[in-house]
Amino acid sequence: MSFTRACGIGEVPPGRSLATELDSPTGVAVAVVHTVDDEWYAIDDECSHAEVPLSEGEVEGCEIECWMHGSRFDLRTGKPTGPPATAPVPIYPVTVEGDDVLVDLTTTLND
Ligand code: FES
Repeated sequence: MSFTRACGIGEVPPGRSLATELDSPTGVAVAVVHTVDDEWYAIDDECSHAEVPLSEGEVEGCEIECWMHGSRFDLRTGKPTGPPATAPVPIYPVTVEGDDVLVDLTTTLND
């Protein structure tokens, strides 16, 4: 595993997400998500239905909802849990070290 700093923990309040400066292997930005249960996730910041940033959507539990047409994605698997999206979104391992949120972009957790 090869973790890279994505942001500081203070930049993402619980229940919110942040578009980071990191680019994923698919060429889009990586969004970091912090749930109200204090779990951290990293996901491609692009809905699989159209080119819309998921970081601008709502975080509910361990799901994120695209604001455009309402598709929901499970942040643990990347799989859509609500239409119209049918394809998963890449997700990546996250760890927190001190005040930093680190993401491993060499691995996806979608299997
Ligand atoms: S663009 Fe996200 S659901 Fe349509």
